[in-house]
Amino acid sequence: MAIERTLSIIKPDAVAKNVIGQIYSRFEGAGLKIVAARMTQLSRAEAEGFYAVHSARPFFKDLVDFMISGPVIIQVLEGENAILKHRDLMGATDPKKADKGTIRADFADSIDANAVHGSDAEETAKVEIAYYFPALNVYSR
Ligand code: PPS
Repeated sequence: MAIERTLSIIKPDAVAKNVIGQIYSRFEGAGLKIVAARMTQLSRAEAEGFYAVHSARPFFKDLVDFMISGPVIIQVLEGENAILKHRDLMGATDPKKADKGTIRADFADSIDANAVHGSDAEETAKVEIAYYFPALNVYSR
């Protein structure tokens, strides 16, 4: 199985709920290693750039407003099958549809404030990691 890296964000709602440690424990419990991390307040331009692919979607402004509403923690996770493993830990985008025991089922309140972000594919992970960690010049090894 390939060792992958994926980009993960703990969103402002989860930071405000003080569940950073609980979410990190889930990553570690699933065998995902945190190889880079930083806490930051995103600017509007940074959030708009990150979500540019969704710029035509009706929820784009709400999504950007939410992502700049408070600090976030951005990390790169590494491990076997990390992209899918992380998405399984997160659960469905809409917490009402997320499986029991997933991060979104346990910590998210709505599709707008859904606690976490995770890259959805290898190519996306590569681009997203480079966006927030330009000096971290490796995707998989
Ligand atoms: S898609 O088509 O699969 O890419 O869309 P999806 O993954 O469901 O959503 C992309 C990101 O937009 C967020 N989202 C929303 N934000 C606010 N309001 C509504 N209604 C909404 N629907 C989707 C969703 O949380 C995704 O953000 P990230 O950060 O990637 O999880």
